[in-house]
Formats: sequence, structure tokens, C-alpha cells
Amino acid sequence: MTAIVLYCRPGFEKECGAEIQEKAAWNEIYGYITLNKNQGLVFFHLHNPEDGEVLIERLPLKRLIFARQWFLTLTDKIELPDYNRVEAIVDALGGDWQYADLRMETTDTNDGKALSKFCRKLAVPLRQALRKKKILTEQGDDFGANLHALFFSGQEVILGYSLGSNSSKHVMGIPRLKFPSQAPSRSTLKLDEAFLYFIPKKDWDSRLTSGLNAVDLGSAPGGWTYQLVRRGMMVSAVDNGPMAESLMETGQVKHYQMDGFKFVPAKQNVYWLVCDMIEKPQRVAKLMMNWLLHGYCKEAMFNLKLPMKGRYQQVMDDLQTIKDGFAEHNVKYELYAKHLYYDREEVTVHARLLSPPPLAK
Ligand SMILES: C[S@@+](CC[C@H](N)C(=O)[O-])C[C@H]1O[C@@H](n2cnc3c(N)ncnc32)[C@H](O)[C@@H]1O
Repeated sequence: MTAIVLYCRPGFEKECGAEIQEKAAWNEIYGYITLNKNQGLVFFHLHNPEDGEVLIERLPLKRLIFARQWFLTLTDKIELPDYNRVEAIVDALGGDWQYADLRMETTDTNDGKALSKFCRKLAVPLRQALRKKKILTEQGDDFGANLHALFFSGQEVILGYSLGSNSSKHVMGIPRLKFPSQAPSRSTLKLDEAFLYFIPKKDWDSRLTSGLNAVDLGSAPGGWTYQLVRRGMMVSAVDNGPMAESLMETGQVKHYQMDGFKFVPAKQNVYWLVCDMIEKPQRVAKLMMNWLLHGYCKEAMFNLKLPMKGRYQQVMDDLQTIKDGFAEHNVKYELYAKHLYYDREEVTVHARLLSPPPLAK
């Protein structure tokens, strides 16, 4: 049966399933969900198989919060023989379609990690065979389709495809980032990934560049501040806790030991507001919205902590609060949320106004 396979963080399958079902229904596309619990896999089985292609074209993956990657199935689970696996895969594909890239994938679990070595080995002869049959073009552009091979073991695989223009560039939607040894906390990777994910590379020279001013609310010990400093920004770091000495020594950081909800920038020259305060998500959402509406910052990147239960609904409610606030003031805006790979019990949100801030003095 034709399904859309979605990859999410293991443990968040329910949220990912609820989300695809709801957002597909907005597009009048219906189906039912099955989950591979704690394997980070969700199957959205389509009532009408032809809807699959419509959905992966029409619904931007960027609009899905909990899905990191997705593809539309070409086959059910195939049993592979011990020998001639490559041939079995090539045969299953037929020769009707061409793909720009091949993605060898597994579940995001320990078993999956063990299997990825096998996948890397198999990828070499498989690519060769697919190229020979002109099934794989490896054009490396964004316009073609990518072939996905999702392995559950050396004997079981599902084949499918995604559109290069509407899928993650990373295998399983996971960017592999290197932890910078000078960063004072591991959460530094969250902001690094957020910039990579939300801000197009072509804009880095203007939106993530040296000389910009930034405010980091809930900054201690400084993992996020580190990412701003390393890009040459001047940072007001707000937290009662201590900041890493190494960051203070750069001369780019001013530490304010105070409540992040009370901090107001002295001048309207702040470009970035980033916020990782462990606080009620509704409170954070309102604070971020107010900063933007008052023109205290141009762009905001922040985390919303997820509750234990009703996580999808809570995020949707938090985002709705922001949307309602923006709508009330009639502003144009960009607002995206994602459960990023380096996030755990939180999602990352990026927001900016595309029209002048209505409450700026
Ligand atoms: C998850 S940690 C931040 C880690 C930091 N982003 C990093 O990368 O090193 C959360 C921080 O929020 C701070 N915090 C919580 N509530 C706050 C508030 N109302 N005002 C300022 N800081 C707050 C805590 O003191 C804590 O240091």
C-alpha cells in the first residue's frame, strides 16, 4: 500500500503522526497512521495512492514540525536474498524513473547505527548498478527526485522517493555537526543547527555576520552565545548564572545578571534575539512576539519546551498565540518551527517580521 514514510526523533512518533494526518487533511488528503514506536518512523498510509505525490509536492516539509525527512513509498517491504541484493533492488525499481541521488537509510536507533556500516558498503555496488541502468543520474540538483532505500536489516528494505525541492538534504534529515571544543555547553549545537536549518546560506553574509548585535536570554554558561561570538557578533548575555570566562575574554560579550523577562535593550540596534530559557512555552512565545512587534530585534530564534503530554497540541497553541498577536497588528511575518536533531524535549522556532514593527517608538 502506498504510504508516506516520515522520520522523526525516536519517541515522538505520535506527534509526527498526528501532525501529518492533520496537515494532510487541510489539503483534503486522508489516510491512516502506523508507527514504529521508538524507532522514529511513521507511516501515513494513503486512502488514495495518487494523493501521495500531490502531498509531498504541495505540503512543504518545512511546515512539518516533527518530521525530519520523508519519502513516498515505491514498494512495500522487500525481502532481499543473501546474495545479489543489488540486483533485487534494481529489479524492484524497474526502469521507468530516474533519480538525482541515492539515500541509504536506517532507523535512528542503535540497531540502525549498526546497520549503517552495511548500508555504506552496499551503496557502492548499488550506485554503480543504478548508474549503469541510468536509474541514477546524480545530477546533484534540487529539481530531481531522490531515491530512498530504508533498511530494517540486511534482508529488509523499503524503497521510495522524495523531491529534491521539498526534502532534507541530509540523510534521514540529520545534519552531522561537530561539537566545537571551545564551546562551554553541548547545547551550542542546537543553535548551530538552527542557523543551518532556518537561514539560507546565501543570506549568511547579511543575517549572520560580524558586527551585528545579539541578545541571548537564558545564556549561561554560553553555548548559544558562543555561536554568536564565533560569527563575530556583539552579545548581551542575560542570565543569573555565570558565563564561561573564555567568552567574556573575547570582549564581545556583556553579561547582565537579571531576569530575561525584564531585560529591555537600551538601543534599537539588536539584530538577533535568541532565547533558551527553561520557562513556560506560552510565556516565552509572548515575550518573543513582543520583542518583534516593538522592533527590539529583527529576528528571533528560540526554544519552546515541550510538556510531557499533548506535545503536538501545545506547540500548535504556542505558535497560534504568536500568529494571533501578529494578525492583530496586521504585520507580515515568517514563522517556522522544527524539532531539530539536536533538540530533545523542545522545538526550535524562528520568527521575523517582514513589515515594519508596529509598536516601535
Ligand atoms: C538550558 S540553559 C541555557 C543554556 C545555554 N543556551 C547554553 O547554550 O549554554 C537555561 C538557562 O536559562 C536560565 N533562565 C531560566 N529562567 C530565566 C529567566 N527568567 N531569566 C534569565 N535566565 C533564565 C537558567 O539560569 C539557565 O542558565
